[in-house]
Amino acid sequence: MVRQKFVINPLEKPADSSCDIRESSGHVKSFFTRLIKRKTVTQLQAEAEGQNELKRTLGSFQLLALGIGGIIGTGIFVLSGEAAAKYAGPSVIVSFIIAAFVAGLAAFSYAEMASMVPISGSAYSYTYATMGEYLAWIIGWDLILEYLLAAATVAVGWSGYIVHFIETVSRHNATKWIVDAPVAWSEESNVFYATGKVINLPAIAIVIALTLLLLTGIGESAKVNLVIVVIKIAVILLFIFACCGYTHRSNYTPFFPPNEGSFNKYGVSGMFHGATVVFFAYIGFDSVTTTAQETKNPQRTLPIGIIGSLIISTILYIAVCAVMVGIVPYKTLDSPNPISEAIKGTPHGIWLPIIIDLGAIAGLTSVTLVSLLGQTRIFYAMAHDGLLPPIFAKVHSRTKTPWVSTIIIGIVCSIFAAIFPLGILGEMTSIGTLVAFFLVHVAVIIMRFTHKEVPRGFRVPFGPWIIPVIGALLCLLLMITSSKETGIRLAVWMGIGQIIYFSYGYWHSKLRYPPQVDESVAMDNLAVDSEEKAPPEYVEQRADTPSN
Ligand code: ALA
Repeated sequence: MVRQKFVINPLEKPADSSCDIRESSGHVKSFFTRLIKRKTVTQLQAEAEGQNELKRTLGSFQLLALGIGGIIGTGIFVLSGEAAAKYAGPSVIVSFIIAAFVAGLAAFSYAEMASMVPISGSAYSYTYATMGEYLAWIIGWDLILEYLLAAATVAVGWSGYIVHFIETVSRHNATKWIVDAPVAWSEESNVFYATGKVINLPAIAIVIALTLLLLTGIGESAKVNLVIVVIKIAVILLFIFACCGYTHRSNYTPFFPPNEGSFNKYGVSGMFHGATVVFFAYIGFDSVTTTAQETKNPQRTLPIGIIGSLIISTILYIAVCAVMVGIVPYKTLDSPNPISEAIKGTPHGIWLPIIIDLGAIAGLTSVTLVSLLGQTRIFYAMAHDGLLPPIFAKVHSRTKTPWVSTIIIGIVCSIFAAIFPLGILGEMTSIGTLVAFFLVHVAVIIMRFTHKEVPRGFRVPFGPWIIPVIGALLCLLLMITSSKETGIRLAVWMGIGQIIYFSYGYWHSKLRYPPQVDESVAMDNLAVDSEEKAPPEYVEQRADTPSN
């Protein structure tokens, strides 16, 4: 096949660079046209099917396990107690239902997009196809908050649980300076301060161990995840069935404790605030979509994995909360181990809390694993598109994993986990996720109008105006309720993302500057979507360049 080489140096000035107003307005227009240049669905589908270097090994069952593995963790084992004790009282059950509703709407939108464009970039790739490269970069950069910081958050939670577990069984206090964050945030003076601790060593250890597991291959990681998921579900069911007989009606009343003056503290408003706190519990179902290129029959299995794992987790969450707040008065649940705290209200001895702790440790392990996995696949997709250096897309010939990006992500995640406290990491994860959910809802609406004809393995019920619109508005609402500091940190993070995009991604994007393009493919791509016109210099050089 005759291949043509289009060498385009974006830094090179055009031959005629006279600065008349018309020309500079043309440059401005061309600049903006580049930022909104979209990938065609045909391109994305071809990438997923044609040039897939990853191995398709996952079926519906493994996807369900990955979803549950990524969902059930800190939210139920740690945050549920805080939400009940400080904000919602027994109505934390409703807080979990409200948060499930918000996550469920997003799950529908993710299922439609994933069944239409089954590619490992998840929300990043969907945005590339609907809103163009610049917003895709923004969401790709934002997803680092959802996946990498979620992994760091849960690793810190894991560290707390393992230390508590060791202290319980050995009756020795751990040396605190190597198991805690060296910095914390002062709410009063709004600055970071040194805590006197040095490093969170257990958090580093779990991230390194899971990074090594991911390097062995997707099949191996999925097997380990499956074992962990079975353990955590068994432990949760054990708690529910062993303790449901010890609930007291008095602990459920008043179901909405009277508000104590501030918006967050009890009452119906406290219940809503509780929902924003426990929203974290549902983050993770979307990591299923990042394995799209390692999935068999993704159009069918991805929606099952996404929606199925969310339904199973929601049922378990509601049952756990209903039992937990029924056994003991809700105010006693403000503990890092609320389930173990609740068990004190039953005649079960020390063994049940120990088993629950082990289940929680297993649960937090799988969340960290699945979050790290998701981050590596997002970077893989971004590097594949040229928005990150190609090293992030390097796939190991034997294990078929993006090994370099796995190692880099493991190192960066362990640094975050070693230094920062759980609260800050968790809030950043939640806001990052809400931004991603919002854009996926918007992507579904856009696609229903621009790509009506593209087959979808799953469609959001009731058309594009109900679920995606309500979902997007609810995401905005939850974003607004985040703290001001979290908003500022998000803005700083996004600012860093702009610097990286305009110094690297903008100049290396394969969509606009294909290094070597087969002419017929290039022409097809241009023809598929007539709105996506190549930049003028691309067309000019194509015409000038002789065949090889
Ligand atoms: N949903 C995950 C958890 O609760 C992030 O740990």
